[in-house]
Amino acid sequence: MKKIFITRKIPGSGIKILQKKDYEVDVSDKDGVLTKEELIDALKQKEYDAVLSLLTDTIDADIFDAVPKAKIFANYAVGYNNIDIEVAKARGLIVSNTPGILTDTVAEYTFALLMAVSKRIPEADKFTREGKYDGWAPELFLGTDLKGKTLGILGAGRIGSRVAEIAHKGYEMNVIYYDIKQNDDIEKKVDAKFRSTPEEVLKEADFVTVHVPLLDSTKHLINAERLAMMKPSAYLINTSRGLVVDESALVEALKNDTIKGAAIDVFEDEPKLAPHIASATEETRSKMSEIAAENIIAALDGKTPPNVIT
Ligand code: GLV
Ligand code: GLV
Repeated sequence: MKKIFITRKIPGSGIKILQKKDYEVDVSDKDGVLTKEELIDALKQKEYDAVLSLLTDTIDADIFDAVPKAKIFANYAVGYNNIDIEVAKARGLIVSNTPGILTDTVAEYTFALLMAVSKRIPEADKFTREGKYDGWAPELFLGTDLKGKTLGILGAGRIGSRVAEIAHKGYEMNVIYYDIKQNDDIEKKVDAKFRSTPEEVLKEADFVTVHVPLLDSTKHLINAERLAMMKPSAYLINTSRGLVVDESALVEALKNDTIKGAAIDVFEDEPKLAPHIASATEETRSKMSEIAAENIIAALDGKTPPNVIT
């Protein structure tokens, strides 16, 4: 019987799929992220054939060593910066992710943040709850309109492209974007304009939204120098990975009114500070669970999983 280890409780639909295959499925019962030692310890309990990991687990050579029989690490996320892909590759291990199904969810959430910051909804909510509201006033909580404004997208993959569509079709925004490759699809669909550097996007956009994966080349993509290029009236939205933005530079930029506002779902030091909920809907988190399960089943059946990274 094949044995699967899941590093934390996830929605049950994927677990059911694995159990239907008659796999023995163990789910960590810790209500939290396993430390490295705890994870190694848990993995050594049995000879696991597959591991379903979360973006909060750091998966490196020491972890691979703890499960010598494992064929696949199925990451329950679209991002996989938490896994040492080079080492996995060198060892012939399969790594998979859960792309596609969370695209709409994350793009919608990106807009939820964009709307919240530009219409000042959290501030106004706090103000009202604190009993400070004493009647309508002409200049109370003035926000910013979206129609006709320019949205700058850094990273026009699946999520960035869906954000472009919502922006253009829903809010009549103009879309400019930077990516390592040009995206004909969004140019056709929403008249998005390609810019050959991130700097051009930062200088021109009224809203900048980041949808790149975390790589060595995207770490602190948004730093003090680039924040200084943005318009003082511009907003930054980040639903990608915290390390893509230099957080202390962002705090300074907000304090100094270098930019007008920022709305972020992801932080540099996530165990301490983390909503990181852009993909968190009932539908999507269940689908992610099912896809991770299907990736495992394919790998253990000797097939190439649908969402293989390496
Ligand atoms: C979430 O951040 C993901 O990568 O799925
Ligand atoms: C992830 O789904 C992306 O490519 O943006």
